[in-house]
Amino acid sequence: MDPIINAVLEPKSIAIVGASADPEKIGYKVVANLIAGGYEGAIYPINPKSEEILGHKCYASVKDVPYVIDAAIITVPAKFVHGVTQECGEKGVKGISIITSGFSEVGEHELEEQVVKTAREFGMRIIGPNIIGVLSNSGKMNASFASQLPLNGTAGLISQSGALLIAMIAATYTRRVGFDKMLSIGNQSDLDFADLVTYLAEDDVTSCITLYIEGIKDGARFMEAARNCDKPIIALKAGTSEHGAAAAASHTGSLAGSSKVYEAAFKQVGVTQADDLNDLFDRTLALSLQPRMQGDNLLILTNGGGVGVLATDAAEKYGLPLKFAPPEVQAELKKHMPDFGSAKNPVDITGGAGLKGYYEGVKYSYAHPWVDGMAILYCETAVTNPLEIAEAIYKALQDSGTTGKPVTVSFVGGERCDTATAWLIEKGIPTYNAPDIAVKALATLRQDQLMSETTHSAPYKPTDINPEKAREIIAGARAKGRDALTEVEAKHVFAAYGLPVTPTELAKTEEEAIKLANEIGFPIVMKIVSPDILHKSDAGAVKVNIKNDDDVREAWKVIMENSLKYKADAEIDGMAVQEMAPWSTEVIVGSVNDATFGPTVMFGLGGIFVEVLKDVTFRVAPIDEDEALRMQNEIKSAQILHGARGESPRDMAKLASILAHYSYMIYDLKDEIAESDANPCLVYEEGKGVAVVDARIILTKK
Ligand code: COA
Repeated sequence: MDPIINAVLEPKSIAIVGASADPEKIGYKVVANLIAGGYEGAIYPINPKSEEILGHKCYASVKDVPYVIDAAIITVPAKFVHGVTQECGEKGVKGISIITSGFSEVGEHELEEQVVKTAREFGMRIIGPNIIGVLSNSGKMNASFASQLPLNGTAGLISQSGALLIAMIAATYTRRVGFDKMLSIGNQSDLDFADLVTYLAEDDVTSCITLYIEGIKDGARFMEAARNCDKPIIALKAGTSEHGAAAAASHTGSLAGSSKVYEAAFKQVGVTQADDLNDLFDRTLALSLQPRMQGDNLLILTNGGGVGVLATDAAEKYGLPLKFAPPEVQAELKKHMPDFGSAKNPVDITGGAGLKGYYEGVKYSYAHPWVDGMAILYCETAVTNPLEIAEAIYKALQDSGTTGKPVTVSFVGGERCDTATAWLIEKGIPTYNAPDIAVKALATLRQDQLMSETTHSAPYKPTDINPEKAREIIAGARAKGRDALTEVEAKHVFAAYGLPVTPTELAKTEEEAIKLANEIGFPIVMKIVSPDILHKSDAGAVKVNIKNDDDVREAWKVIMENSLKYKADAEIDGMAVQEMAPWSTEVIVGSVNDATFGPTVMFGLGGIFVEVLKDVTFRVAPIDEDEALRMQNEIKSAQILHGARGESPRDMAKLASILAHYSYMIYDLKDEIAESDANPCLVYEEGKGVAVVDARIILTKK
């Protein structure tokens, strides 16, 4: 735990600089909130005009306080913040929370940078500016101008929106989702999402981390912090922007865009992405109260067929399809329901089920080793009392003698169900008013378990790569004033990173082309090599299936004529002479640099899959082969790789190795490569490898 960050977020003494006796002012509210929240540390209001505020002695400056100050909360107007920061530094304050607005969020970058620079000189950390403040139930600290602490619980929130944080505090009471800490992060001038995720990851009280994100400043730091965090993280990402995609000229670029990259990054480091604010609350409730689900066996127990079917549909939709319970489980459950009930799964104990039915059914099922997680559903009936059913469910879970398995509940009905819901949540059982949400919550706990099994280690790096050689080729192109590599150069860079490019060499004359064609072996492909002709097929500057010396001569003539017709003054380096790889399943591997996360890998099947269906998936580079296999399995058309319609399976292992090598190429050379692709790559049958048939690299502007 970083002692300085700790001092800012869990201070033993707080100065409020800009404290005011005027109840309308934020500087008054912060002092009043600290007192109302029951803060047990020292409170020092700072204001040159007052003697005392809300019963606490007031000082003209932090420097006049004769005691140690851990944290200062700043509520003076922006123009005074730098001076106050300087004074805090001189006083030895460990860190500051700057509530004040009027910095980088309105274009005042210089002012913000000045404040950060001064804070750094004194070794102080900053949260903010432009924040609501910091709240902690366990610290009895409402160091904010939000009027109350959230409903007590164990989730921890980091929010980039102050107003939303205040609204969420109020909603915690109606939604019954309890939080311990709520941190308003504002402009992230110093402490950012990565720092605060790390802080909450190490915090004893926090069980799950909830994020409201508009933009992450440093994608790599965030990913590292999330990867190192053992607790569940759920994020609502707002304000997705297409600027990355719009700026990128290439095919890959037009499919990228930051929202897809955020989605990829979250997946890679095990962050659950919430769909909306309601979903954020719903899933936080489960993630903060229940353990992860260790296996796929979900058992649904219900008194209503309808909600049972809805839950079954949801199970399939959210990736936890139901399986029939084993015969011995069915036989035992049959004893606790009428003959017309069903013990298969969903287990329907029927509408007449009362306390005994729920108690026996839940107690037995929850304890059974086949069951990895349970969703218990209840429809309000005339013959049962919801609160009593809730009590029976809770008692059954307790009496089962089992722990470590997740359970969620749905009570569908009216006010009496609301009361029962509140009671169960109070006991730590996430309870919802719809069956699909109870199942979605369980699926999240399963998904979180799966992510925690795969995302904690950094990707492993291939060793058969030659970065120096790749840099040499790029330097050669730059020396000629070019910002795109020719296909031959690009293929040589790819080859330096262990990618299986089809042999391709540059012929400067017709005679050289004949010599190279014979060396490579017929049939061959010939293409123009010109920095002025990037879309070679459009220009008629590609010829395939060239079978002998005469064909080479003919191709040379036609390609040259077509190229000059396409662009009369095109600079022509010669022609690429390359092996003609036998055709097979076509895939596209591409990259584009994202402003937040850096180089990203895109993967999909070629042809209509990419052109029309846009069936592609992204990852932030670098990735290893395990992650690459997940990419292949994740596209909608994955079945084609596994072998569809009588075709044999493709070489997915080799393709994974290629994606991993490619990802390290764009990662290592991110200062040089702006965009690249291997399009198409041909993937052969299992064990027969992959061929990169075409390669393209566009360099960064220098
Ligand atoms: N040291 C101590 N106190 C100082 C001071 C200094 N160097 N300079 C000014 N003060 C005092 C003022 O005299 C005043 O006290 P008073 O009421 O006794 O006169 C107090 O600090 C506040 O200053 P004031 O000029 O009255 O400002 P304000 O309260 O109207 O506004 C902010 C200050 C910070 C609240 C305002 O500038 C702001 O940024 N508001 C937006 C905050 C926000 O919404 N943040 C979250 C966004 S999500």
